[in-house]
Amino acid sequence: MVNEEILLEVRGLKVHFPIEKGIITRRRVGWVRAVDGVDFTLRRGESLGLVGESGCGKTTTAMAVARLEALSAGQVLFEGRDLASMANAELNRARKDFQIVFQDPWSSLDPRMRVRDIIAEPLRIHAGRGHIAATEAEIAERVLALMERCGLSKDFATRYPHEFSGGQRQRIGIARALVLGPKLIIADEPVSALDVSIQSQILNLLKDLQKELGLTFLFIAHDLAVVEYFCSRIAVMYLGRIVETASSYELNRAPLHPYTKALLSAVPLPDPKRERERRRIILKGDVPSPSVERPGCPFRERCPEAMDRCEREAPTLRPVNPGRTGHEAGGGVGASGGGAGVADFGGAGGLGGGNGVGRAESGHLVSCFLYAD
Ligand SMILES: Nc1ncnc2c1ncn2[C@@H]1O[C@H](COP(=O)(O)OP(=O)(O)OP(=O)(O)O)[C@@H](O)[C@H]1O
Ligand code: SF4
Ligand SMILES: [Mg+2]
Repeated sequence: MVNEEILLEVRGLKVHFPIEKGIITRRRVGWVRAVDGVDFTLRRGESLGLVGESGCGKTTTAMAVARLEALSAGQVLFEGRDLASMANAELNRARKDFQIVFQDPWSSLDPRMRVRDIIAEPLRIHAGRGHIAATEAEIAERVLALMERCGLSKDFATRYPHEFSGGQRQRIGIARALVLGPKLIIADEPVSALDVSIQSQILNLLKDLQKELGLTFLFIAHDLAVVEYFCSRIAVMYLGRIVETASSYELNRAPLHPYTKALLSAVPLPDPKRERERRRIILKGDVPSPSVERPGCPFRERCPEAMDRCEREAPTLRPVNPGRTGHEAGGGVGASGGGAGVADFGGAGGLGGGNGVGRAESGHLVSCFLYAD
């Protein structure tokens, strides 16, 4: 049964890139495990932030969700239908409901096209395929209205991308993403390439649009402060996996995973007293290569709290036991869960509901033996 509240559900997502050698005959010598078993759920109207160090698999996750990257395993259920197993014609039709805003507005806009045509292009493509009915006059009207809504003067409609600033180009990218009236926006580092003052303008625009249009966001960033500001929930990624997920408030207040603690310790605090007392956790070493398959916890080499068990076994994402965070954090998808589980709950029952969506999905989940039963 499809749960109307859930817009997107990602289960067991893996994207492994082959490593090949040889000039004349190419042979596979290994795999880059860019995404190695990611599960998450997005409710309608919510914004989930995906954070983590460079190379942890954020963009690959986003591209696989949008089926712009081939999946090695897993399901991407959009309104209950699996995008991963759709044939091209069906997928193309479904694409009008989810759009991507890219990090670099410069390279994502065709320099030879006028702004009005860049924004109108998705509409024309879908009208051409018969997915929607729209006349040229209606398209022109929609483009101008969206330009205005995104803070671009209608007078700019005939200009080319090089005639705009970085912030304005990102506004064009946002207008283009909205032109089809999507339900989900996948924003991959949408403000990382912009000056700080412009960042807040774009974030505020996205927030207003989210409220007005009831948009759902998968919002990717490496800057935790930006994600905390924009997102209601955060998932922290490390080496192709989600290691912790919680509401933005809860993650900031009571981070549990040693990696999340280290990431948060690097964020400057606005209160000068607290900022003076802030103790930075410096992680040893670099992120290991995702091409080496190793047993145990993926974070163990860098973890200040690693124990023997972490060498042998890999922890799974589980709801935190009540009392661990000083608030009601427990719960999970119980036996009656109906298959909408976020991750491997290892039989952790609790507050799960018969509709398949347990409270754990909006609760606090962590993948670390320190919080195992
Ligand atoms: N097409 C590809 N072929 C092989 N390896 C790839 C490919 N695309 C990405 N990778 C590797 O997959 C891993 C994850 O890359 P990804 O771009 O998803 O990381 P990211 O979290 O988005 O990083 P950043 O914050 O720098 O954007 C990296 O090790 C990267 O080198
Ligand atoms: S499972 Fe072990 S190595 Fe992994 S984060 Fe927890 S304590 Fe650290
Ligand atoms: Mg990226």
